[in-house]
Amino acid sequence: MRIVFLGPPGVGKGTQAAQLQALLGVPHVSTGNILRAAIQQEGSPLGREVRRFVENGRLVPDDLMGDLIAERLERKDATAGFILDGFPRTLEQVSILEGVLGRLGLALDRVLMLVVPETEIVRRLSGRRTCPKCGTVFHLESRPPAAPGVCDECGSALVQRTDDTEQVIRERMKVYAGQTLPVADAYRAKGILVEVDGFGEVEAVRSRLTSGLGRV
Ligand code: AP5
Repeated sequence: MRIVFLGPPGVGKGTQAAQLQALLGVPHVSTGNILRAAIQQEGSPLGREVRRFVENGRLVPDDLMGDLIAERLERKDATAGFILDGFPRTLEQVSILEGVLGRLGLALDRVLMLVVPETEIVRRLSGRRTCPKCGTVFHLESRPPAAPGVCDECGSALVQRTDDTEQVIRERMKVYAGQTLPVADAYRAKGILVEVDGFGEVEAVRSRLTSGLGRV
């Protein structure tokens, strides 16, 4: 299965992709996680280059993202399939992805687009806490860690993402509406977009997504 996850900031893409990767046995490729890992890594040239874009909620330039995604999808573990979370985010990135997959003789199976009301997005982003070490995502109300402020998986101190401030969230939503919604239209026109209601329990959303995989 070669899947793209689309949807606004905080809609639950990462949460669902992490669960589906185990179910489908394909890697979860999150461009946001790749960029944040580079930013955290001291002395990383990629981290230095992308920090100001990510922290201000703006998109990293397409050519840089194209190189990064080509390198990732050419790795052996992605040949049998992948879940792409966070790419493509612009029409130019749609063409880049098509080019990379074309060179590999592959094509996308589905584009799953999660949709929730805006009030729920604000609630999800303001309560999100993330493990900076293993990347596990929590929520103060809907997925609280067993011990407050501590990652259940690796015991590290949880943090709030630097781009989860009110001002940066507003910018990310603006960028999504202006640059990423046209991506959904492009995949709708190709007949591979499935819109899925992302509201409700994580398990209920996951079951809607798996039914969506069989539907176009
Ligand atoms: P990225 O990390 O991709 O951010 P995003 O798209 O804004 O998405 P988020 O990670 O914020 O949210 P999510 O949908 O994964 O939600 P989550 O599962 O965490 O990108 C960050 C930045 O990197 C971009 O702004 C840009 O600068 C750069 N970038 C990345 N890709 C790029 C590209 N291709 N081109 C250029 N720049 C790029 O869930 C949110 C919260 O809700 C969590 O707390 C979770 O526990 C909770 N939750 C999840 N599901 C439920 C549920 N069903 N019920 C209740 N709570 C739930």
